[in-house]
Amino acid sequence: MEQGKTIRAALLGAGTVGGGVYKLANLLKEDIFQKTGARLEIDKVLVRDRSKKREGIPSEILTDRWEEIRDDDGIEIVIELMGGIHPALDYIQEALHCGKQVVTANKDLLAQYGAQLFEAAQERHCDLHFEASVAGAIPIIRPLRQSLAAAELTEVMGIVNGTTNYILTKMSEEGMGYGEALKLATRLGYAESDPTADVEGYDAGRKLAIMASIAFNSRVTFPQVYTEGITKITAEDIRYAKEFGYVVKLIGMTRLTDEGIEVKVHPMLIPDQHPLASVRDSFNAVFVHGKACDDAMFMGRGAGEMPTASAVMGDVIDCMRNLLHGSCGKIGCGCYLNLPVKPIEETVSRFFLRIQVTDRPGALANIAGILGNNGVSIEQVVQKKSHNGVAELVIITDNVRERYFNDALRILEGMSVIQEISGYIRVYG
Ligand code: NAP
Ligand code: HSE
Repeated sequence: MEQGKTIRAALLGAGTVGGGVYKLANLLKEDIFQKTGARLEIDKVLVRDRSKKREGIPSEILTDRWEEIRDDDGIEIVIELMGGIHPALDYIQEALHCGKQVVTANKDLLAQYGAQLFEAAQERHCDLHFEASVAGAIPIIRPLRQSLAAAELTEVMGIVNGTTNYILTKMSEEGMGYGEALKLATRLGYAESDPTADVEGYDAGRKLAIMASIAFNSRVTFPQVYTEGITKITAEDIRYAKEFGYVVKLIGMTRLTDEGIEVKVHPMLIPDQHPLASVRDSFNAVFVHGKACDDAMFMGRGAGEMPTASAVMGDVIDCMRNLLHGSCGKIGCGCYLNLPVKPIEETVSRFFLRIQVTDRPGALANIAGILGNNGVSIEQVVQKKSHNGVAELVIITDNVRERYFNDALRILEGMSVIQEISGYIRVYG
């Protein structure tokens, strides 16, 4: 090993995470040297706008020309923190072709082009690290790829979007409406100015695609993930869920079944005693189950400048060690299987169903009949006192194939006794 060497790195992007990485790399200079035996020097930073003031980053190391980094043979590590697909995809592929190690936090890219990126990394025996792409500071990628490699994983589920967890926590604990909670999340900087990817479940879906691919050794891409967001969740849903002993969370879940991989993101009623129920505010958590390892849970900060930068720097330190020991690229793609992804209609769930019904004799029996005829068995039902001749029915079903539940819903929608199907949410268990 080459003691006292300086390893040069370049940052692509100096926004929230890139700025944090630059700060942390400086703050931990001596620590990194002690841990690795080498010094880290980030001496080029790619940005769109060089004239923008960047706190703590000397203007002379800023560049808006990717070629300056790509063609500098002395730069051994490229840290991609620009986000988005283009030009990040091209830059990472080019960096790998040039034999540079790559660290990225880009979930959009990995969830769509993971296979291509790993192929490029494998060709040159390069590291491609992406711990920060899922759940920020929480170590989950490395545990899935390394520590749990022999765990015979069968399920990964979690809360992997901080913005929606914050919104649902405010709705649940302070009785806020969805709009009010979203406004607060935006003011506090949790939600983006365009919060679509968070509230519609796309951000969580990308993270699930990445975790499913690693857990089950079979490539899953974002378009294969079923996603449903939290925009239709109401204060009433949350209140009734509480009465039944549940909290509402946006859950990402992937399971290995005999018919293929289930991979989905949707709101879910979680029993209030389940460990994920106590994950509040903008915290994230990932719960895994394996035949060999049984249950394990990881929890922490899923986003933000320093939490995300800490995960990125952990990867950079790993790259430095691999460079010094000549062991780069030792963990490849890992997707040696080609398993099908199950359509959502063929998965099995329990459901919480809220219906407004004309309060007249036989209404409940009719509804129970339609559900039963379609293979939907009722586990619990509560009828609320009627107002102006309309009663509210809140039902929790047993496990049912989603296709059968949807068939029953379509028939219920056409019944004259039913005023409105106010909503349905999947239930854990
Ligand atoms: P950000 O604040 O928007 O910063 C993006 C940076 O990239 C900016 O400095 C921007 O330059 C630069 N950039 C964008 N496009 C560029 C281009 N075509 N050429 C050169 N520079 C370009 O983003 P962020 O929040 O730091 O996120 C970065 C990555 O980390 C994303 O992949 C994101 O998904 C991931 N991530 C973020 C968090 C988080 O908490 N923010 C958590 C986990 C993962 P200018 O400054 O000149 O515009
Ligand atoms: N927007 C994401 C969240 C952070 O709210 O969790 C980046 O993954």
